[in-house]
Amino acid sequence: DLVNDLLGLQQSERDLAKILGIDRCFIMTGDCDFQDRVLDNMGTILNDTLAKILPEGNNVIVVMGGHTMAQVAYQFTPELSTKRQLTFVPGRGGMGQSLAMQANTVCSIMADRTHGESQSMYVPETLSEKTYQPLLEEPSVQMVLKLIEQSNVVVHGIGRADEMAERREVDPNIMHLLEQKKAVGEAFGCFYNQAGDIVYKVPRIGLQLERIHSIDHVFAVAGGHTKAQAIVSYMNLAPHQTCLITDEGAANLILKK
Ligand code: F6P
Repeated sequence: DLVNDLLGLQQSERDLAKILGIDRCFIMTGDCDFQDRVLDNMGTILNDTLAKILPEGNNVIVVMGGHTMAQVAYQFTPELSTKRQLTFVPGRGGMGQSLAMQANTVCSIMADRTHGESQSMYVPETLSEKTYQPLLEEPSVQMVLKLIEQSNVVVHGIGRADEMAERREVDPNIMHLLEQKKAVGEAFGCFYNQAGDIVYKVPRIGLQLERIHSIDHVFAVAGGHTKAQAIVSYMNLAPHQTCLITDEGAANLILKK
């Protein structure tokens, strides 16, 4: 029935991609804010699409964290590794309280499910200027950053600014700035407003937003009606090769505008 859903939704998927100015969209039935299984379907589509398009041989896949990523990871299958060597690399360090949502954790789940390999980055994501430079020189960090440089795939989430500011535990000054500048969303440590202008960048180690423009395959996975604005505005920053995997909860609001 997933296949039927997809066939039935093709026109709206094309319309959505056009509105957002990106190459491809998948819209899953339902709203993941209400139904968890919608996230599973997003994961299945991601797995199947990767299985179709990734080149044979070595693939380095940069993975971001978040609740969406963590759930999507469980839908990955060993078929993804047919004729391929997969290495999953976290695109960021750790942050906040929940271990389950860390990019490191998501990488290791994806590697387990696909019988691939994964690397970890044991660095707190948000760093003071003072700690940043010496940490960058650590061989274990260098190794992961080099892998990120070699990556040909990125899979990431998109978050609401208010939720992400809270999760990232930004200090009250920054919180105030985000409100003042009307931040609506966050991705890759960049908070942006409705027009897609970056209003605040978290100083952090890992994959930077500018870099993804030169990565072959970019997958954004985000759904739910509460994320509609964050998704639309992010697409002003997104590289055209982005493939968005979303749901009707978000898509219907965007298509109506
Ligand atoms: O922290 C990684 C990240 O991909 C953020 O850039 C994004 O805003 C967030 O996760 C999305 O998280 P969730 O899927 O929990 O809404």
